[in-house]
Amino acid sequence: MKKEYKLEFNDITKDIINNEYFLKTKDDLHHGSSKYDHLVRVSKCSFMLGKMFKADIKSVTRAALLHDFFFGGRKDKNENSYLNHPITAAKNAKEYFYLNEIEEEAIKTHMFHHVIMKKIFPFLNRHEKAKIKESKPKSKEGWIVCISDLLVSIMECQRFEFTYIAKLSCLVLINIIFLRN
Ligand SMILES: [Fe+2]
Ligand SMILES: [Fe+2]
Repeated sequence: MKKEYKLEFNDITKDIINNEYFLKTKDDLHHGSSKYDHLVRVSKCSFMLGKMFKADIKSVTRAALLHDFFFGGRKDKNENSYLNHPITAAKNAKEYFYLNEIEEEAIKTHMFHHVIMKKIFPFLNRHEKAKIKESKPKSKEGWIVCISDLLVSIMECQRFEFTYIAKLSCLVLINIIFLRN
């Protein structure tokens, strides 16, 4: 990241990054590293994509920084599940920071990539119901946060390459088996 971009990024995110409650994400695990690291990576990726696609930089960067602002594992509570945690994150973010409409919507729709995966592989996370229309991003900023989250998540999961490939292969196999019957 260029020096001027770094300064701009720090200026946009400083109140969130230095917030006492937000700093607790450092103790929360996500894709094998801290949730804090994941949030900062997605935020930086969204910032850069926002520059490329001339998005509302402040909104896209802050929404990305808060997109997974919830605590605990996805299986710990119903509100932390794959499809519920965007709502929980938006609720938490609103409690501690001011959110505009674009930011709130981008947080709530950031799991659209997972909804698409569920449509391709119906047995993925089969206990939750996903609706394309409701979970689809409604703004350029929403799409950027969703895509950045996907890109960063793939990159983070590559550290567990074998596990990831093994899980994906099992998933494809299970879907083939069940769809044939
Ligand atoms: Fe998420
Ligand atoms: Fe995420």
